[in-house]
Amino acid sequence: GITRHYKFNIRLKNVTRLCHTKSMVTVNGKFPGPRVVAREGDRLVVKVVNHVPNNISIHWHGIRQIQSGWADGPSYITQCPIQTNQSYVYNFTITGQRGTLFWHAHFSWLRATVYGPLIIFPKHNVSYPFAKPHKEVTILLGEWFNADPEAVISQALQTGAGPNVSEAYSFNGLPGPLYNCSANNTYKLKVKAGKTYLLRLINAALNDELFFSIANHTLTVVEADAIYVKPFETNVLVMAPGQTTNVLLKTKPIAPNASFYMLARPYFTGQGTFDNTTAAGILEYETSSNSTIFKPILPRINATNAVANFTRRFRSLANSQFPVNVPQTVDKKFFFPVGLGNSPCPKNQTCQGPNGTKFAASVNNISMALPSVALLQSYFFKKSNGVYTSDFPSFPLHPFNYTGTPPNNTFVTNATKVVVLPFNTSVEVVMQETSILGAESHPLHLHGFNFYIVGEGFGNFDPNNDPKNFNLVDPVERNTVGVPSGGWVAIRFLADNPGVWLMHCHFDVHLSWGLRMAWIVLDGTLPNQKLPPPPSDLPKC
Ligand code: C2O
Repeated sequence: GITRHYKFNIRLKNVTRLCHTKSMVTVNGKFPGPRVVAREGDRLVVKVVNHVPNNISIHWHGIRQIQSGWADGPSYITQCPIQTNQSYVYNFTITGQRGTLFWHAHFSWLRATVYGPLIIFPKHNVSYPFAKPHKEVTILLGEWFNADPEAVISQALQTGAGPNVSEAYSFNGLPGPLYNCSANNTYKLKVKAGKTYLLRLINAALNDELFFSIANHTLTVVEADAIYVKPFETNVLVMAPGQTTNVLLKTKPIAPNASFYMLARPYFTGQGTFDNTTAAGILEYETSSNSTIFKPILPRINATNAVANFTRRFRSLANSQFPVNVPQTVDKKFFFPVGLGNSPCPKNQTCQGPNGTKFAASVNNISMALPSVALLQSYFFKKSNGVYTSDFPSFPLHPFNYTGTPPNNTFVTNATKVVVLPFNTSVEVVMQETSILGAESHPLHLHGFNFYIVGEGFGNFDPNNDPKNFNLVDPVERNTVGVPSGGWVAIRFLADNPGVWLMHCHFDVHLSWGLRMAWIVLDGTLPNQKLPPPPSDLPKC
């Protein structure tokens, strides 16, 4: 591979959408941010210089970061944030991965505006496992707030209430004509008849899973989270924030005298408010006169079964070129209830969360408090005292009926606890949605690894019977999985990457409320099983 250099200048920029102009944090003044391109085996060197008042860090979402954990990016986990007028160079090699990923800010809610595609092509002279498309197109789904998203979340954290929702969804930053004062900000995809296009779809929205469809066109899914899958056809996709999906779009053999909306709108089952609006882009044929425009039909907002039926269709290729390496046996099992909860209102304060408390969210009833020094630094330099403890529970201390009446006490514990795994531990994690404060799906994202989704279901996970149906033959491999609303999902991975790795809900609202935990994977004995020391420009807290 070769080394590719990028420079990210973090700058404020005025951007107007929905007739609303605001100053936002951007990379190089671009919204969405610049495309980062590489080939499998290349080294990426990205110098990030912070020119804004906010702290920031950048995460390369889905990159394995093998022996390069210092470049992963989550603030207070693998690094302290990059402060104003400081810089940090992210330096990592892309090993054994090709496909569509994205990069985004990993500090507070800055990823609302700081995100962009990360496209990894196969090595030279290596082709896709499908016919070469006529053209490739990247479509980032995002979310637009008229307000400054940092103000939205800090107000929510102070009052303990749910945050204000966004005003719009967008395709490549453009909300489209279904919003007021937005027709000029419409994403248009111009196509030729009789061709195949590869669409690289990325859900970079902050807080919503999104349905996506293009009127009168069937899509063939070929990749998820930068891993090829057995191709299958669908009219509607659903993607959680943090998930990417590559699809083939076959255009009509003869250009029709019509154009076609592509729409994105949320899937949501939780309580309270959400942004119930629809982003629209337009698929246009080059020679057509566009007399009519067709609209696709999307599932209803809370179509949990449609989501389950779609996500269960994903299968690994599982062939000799792309074998499945799912652990057939497990060294260490975990059962993590994930979901919302609350915490007491501090004295002399009024809280606007549930029953006068504050909203919180947790894994195994632990709402992760961010440390003041990055976990990876404290771990590496053996200064963990007062930073974190290694007693994150493997199983709930107080199990309850996760699909029945919630317990009386729904308060979470605020703490910084981690799980420590010896190198090469094979791990199984069953994540169960708790339905406290309403059933809601949670897109769980694991840094530093892909995992295999070996099982999922509705209701309470049954440890005696459900594992009998686990798929250990061709399970899909991903980096983000929706824990189903009112259900569970089981994942397996091999802890073969030394470092500190965050796992969290990719809804930023739940992340801010503490739905996150961290794994420490210890060094192995061989030199290529150890985490090297940090680069000299690693930011200080
Ligand atoms: Cu894409 Cu920790 O996130």
